[in-house]
Amino acid sequence: MTTTTKTDRAPAPSAGGRAVLDASGVTMRFGGLTAVRDVNLTVDSGEIVGLIGPNGAGKTTFFNCLTGLYVPTEGTVSYKGTVLPHRSHLVTQAGIARTFQNIRLFANMTVLENVLVGRHTRTSEGLFSALLRGPGFRRAERESEEQAMELLRFIGLQDKREHLARNLPYGEQRKLEIARALASQPGLLLLDEPTAGMTSSETEATRELVLAVREQGTAVLVIEHDMRFIFNLCDRVAVLVQGEKLVEGSPETVQNDDRVIAAYLGTPFEGEPGEAEVAEVQAAEGSREQEAQDQEPREQEPREQDSREQEGGEG
Ligand SMILES: Nc1ncnc2c1ncn2[C@@H]1O[C@H](COP(=O)(O)OP(=O)(O)OP(=O)(O)O)[C@@H](O)[C@H]1O
Ligand SMILES: [Mg+2]
Repeated sequence: MTTTTKTDRAPAPSAGGRAVLDASGVTMRFGGLTAVRDVNLTVDSGEIVGLIGPNGAGKTTFFNCLTGLYVPTEGTVSYKGTVLPHRSHLVTQAGIARTFQNIRLFANMTVLENVLVGRHTRTSEGLFSALLRGPGFRRAERESEEQAMELLRFIGLQDKREHLARNLPYGEQRKLEIARALASQPGLLLLDEPTAGMTSSETEATRELVLAVREQGTAVLVIEHDMRFIFNLCDRVAVLVQGEKLVEGSPETVQNDDRVIAAYLGTPFEGEPGEAEVAEVQAAEGSREQEAQDQEPREQEPREQDSREQEGGEG
């Protein structure tokens, strides 16, 4: 079932062609359910790769296998040629950072503090130095703060450094999560639905931010349901369907592939539709309209707070 279509698009401007990420034969089973089946995926340096697929296709599970949250049933994940351990903090230390589908910020910490937490894997100051607050610690602290502020300027949140994370509008919380991930100075950034719940202008700003991240030398693997965002951003797109990689190639190749269209829309009816088919289509359209109505308020107001405090070691 797995078919790989070669990309026909020129590589990204800064692409070095070297694999930053190499996931090989990754399979994840939960009891009788195979959420991810024998998936191979590479991300080269300088690349922005998209991972798309219908709900429940296994995209987040695949990310969890890449970042050491799950131990894959089969397969290996390498970062710059070294097989990664199955421990999320070691994966972060190696150079892979991520954001989560459900925002995970320290809600009661300030914007600046959230970014500082993301930096802890890159500071060398030990426990005693921190306890004694000696000159080495204070210097490291100053440097950390300067770099965190640089990141806040990069994402445009410098004026909100003292705001509590929970008081930020939803789109800014998503940005802050990206800044926190970038604070660990990753060579690869994994984004799980970075534009979910965003307005169209916030989505465009996020697209520009991801391009800027790439310009700074970080490769990106991004899961997203917003096809316009994916096809306007990515050098290469892989499609997961029911845990398997169905197609991979340039945005043009993927959006014109009948199998991808069928995976999202279902197989078209043969011949004239009968009453049952007409009823099915009407029901589907009704529920889609309802979904659109349900989503409308989210466009204007920040979504209800869903940040939650959790250990900083994962991301
Ligand atoms: N910890 C778990 N235990 C059991 N089943 C799981 C677990 N995590 C995910 N699954 C199942 O694996 C399948 C893939 O889920 P996953 O969240 O990876 O999909 P997804 O592609 O990210 O979907 P969405 O687009 O809705 O976020 C689903 O059937 C899900 O119920
Ligand atoms: Mg998901």
